[in-house]
Amino acid sequence: MPPTTTTDRHERTAVASGLPAAVRIEHIHKSFGSAGSGPARPVLEDINLRIRPGEFVCLLGASGCGKSTLLGLVAGLDRPTSGRIELGGTRPALMFQEHALFPWLSAGKNIELALRLRGVPRPDRRPEAERLLELVRLGGAYRKRVHELSGGMRQRVALARALAQDSQLLLMDEPFAALDAITRDVLHEELTRVWSRTSLSVLFVTHNVREAVRLGQRVVLLSSRPGRVAREWTVDIPQPRRIEDPAVADLSVEITEELRREIRRHGKH
Ligand SMILES: Nc1ncnc2c1ncn2[C@@H]1O[C@H](COP(=O)(O)OP(=O)(O)O)[C@@H](O)[C@H]1O
Ligand SMILES: [Mg+2]
Repeated sequence: MPPTTTTDRHERTAVASGLPAAVRIEHIHKSFGSAGSGPARPVLEDINLRIRPGEFVCLLGASGCGKSTLLGLVAGLDRPTSGRIELGGTRPALMFQEHALFPWLSAGKNIELALRLRGVPRPDRRPEAERLLELVRLGGAYRKRVHELSGGMRQRVALARALAQDSQLLLMDEPFAALDAITRDVLHEELTRVWSRTSLSVLFVTHNVREAVRLGQRVVLLSSRPGRVAREWTVDIPQPRRIEDPAVADLSVEITEELRREIRRHGKH
């Protein structure tokens, strides 16, 4: 995957100047199902979004509104129907709801594999894997097999593996959605701590309003059918926040009301 993703249609357009961006999404449209399987169905319509270097942005919306589709376009896993996406730095690191760790490798070896793919010399891999495990508070888990780890621990290893790519951009698709509330709470803390110690830009997809407000510096709400940026909020509640903070709760109520309006506007889900 090249560090900069552009679509054919707009490849020769002048690069939009202006402020530096970790991700610049311009006029993205995405439809599925045109090749002989009925009319093309627009899923994303004219999405424009800029993520500043080091910024933590949460992309929020109802199930099926196109969040994963948009994240996949940013990751370069699929191509937009039209529009362009520019990435400021290196190839992004990805993290999904499914940890996608190799079960036959230990926690440490899973991380070392990412280091090897990044070109880290062999003697440096083990100490670096151990440092990353410490960073996600899994020091001592180096030799553990995936089946020996809890769901929360697996997602920590997955986070350490994503960090092992040494990317400036982390794309996360509902990474904590399968965890129980208490484990999720702890992982929120860990992610906030790791993010605040690095210069990572994060695009975090969720359907959970509270999670978006707990984590994001900015919450971007996508509408459904087709997905468009409906509204966005800057969250200036100081970190570390807690999910039960009154300010988090208040903003979550406001955003939930807007989300409900969006869902009513576009039928049932
Ligand atoms: N490869 C695909 N082919 C056809 N339709 C798809 C494909 N990927 C996603 N869709 C459709 O696009 C819509 C948005 O999906 P998705 O991005 O997964 O939503 P979200 O992540 O917000 O739940 C859904 O209606 C889904 O069925
Ligand atoms: Mg999804």
